[in-house]
Amino acid sequence: MIETDKFDYDVLEKRIKQESDRKTFAKVFDNQSINAVHSLANKGLFDVLEHIVSTGKEAHVFAATDVSGNTRAVKIFKKETTDFKRMNEYIVDDRRFQNLRKDRRNLVFAWAKKEYKNLLLANRANLSVPVPLGIKENVIVMEFISENNKPAKQLKETKSTKKELETYLEQIIDFMAKLYLAGLVHADLSEYNILVQKKKLVIIDFAQAVLLNHPKAREFFERDVTNIANFFSKKGIKISFEELYAKIKAHKNEL
Ligand SMILES: Nc1ncnc2c1ncn2[C@@H]1O[C@H](COP(=O)(O)OP(=O)(O)O)[C@@H](O)[C@H]1O
Ligand SMILES: [Mg+2]
Repeated sequence: MIETDKFDYDVLEKRIKQESDRKTFAKVFDNQSINAVHSLANKGLFDVLEHIVSTGKEAHVFAATDVSGNTRAVKIFKKETTDFKRMNEYIVDDRRFQNLRKDRRNLVFAWAKKEYKNLLLANRANLSVPVPLGIKENVIVMEFISENNKPAKQLKETKSTKKELETYLEQIIDFMAKLYLAGLVHADLSEYNILVQKKKLVIIDFAQAVLLNHPKAREFFERDVTNIANFFSKKGIKISFEELYAKIKAHKNEL
């Protein structure tokens, strides 16, 4: 249930800069979410939510700043639109989430924690992902990926030369091989979840990423390969599923 009547409006005003964003927040989130935001802010991870960067089906992403003016991304997962079936499919058999009480609230908290843990794992493997900074319940704080003081664009939205695309493809092959070696499959890899920052790709959106022992890890990996092969082929860098798969495998064996 969304409990807008119980909102702590002082906290809402203190932590969310824009009036219109406060209204959106109150419409989409419950009081517990603003408390989680407040608690992360009290830890010094950020001070105010500056503006909404993205309103997705599953989560809203805000740009935030801390007291020193550093930018942060704050991703808040929605409880209302929880897709139980989908989340379960990606969390099942994950040894990190055994004995999870599967009510809506707990599943969303686990989903956020899954993204956080996956980001930590990828970050420790030196992969190009936003650095995870903190988590409380359904709220994650991470590094803000930006270019010229604006949120970095998704690969899908960027205009790139053939040469740039070729280097992007190489970066993705390197990423996929290294992520695999680190024990993860992204499972939602596409031009939407890849940001471009000064010609360098940063991979985001790790909630659905699974460990290699997940029953569908192979299927998800192959789907990721298909998405990437399709995107680059559409952009004029023709590559088939088989070719890309072989390149990732060969690269993995070299590492
Ligand atoms: N760390 C970040 N830095 C900058 N922008 C981000 C960051 N995380 C997410 N975004 C922006 O928000 C959008 C949605 O985030 P994402 O994690 O993909 O969630 P979802 O697709 O589940 O809504 C991204 O496509 C990107 O534009
Ligand atoms: Mg996404």
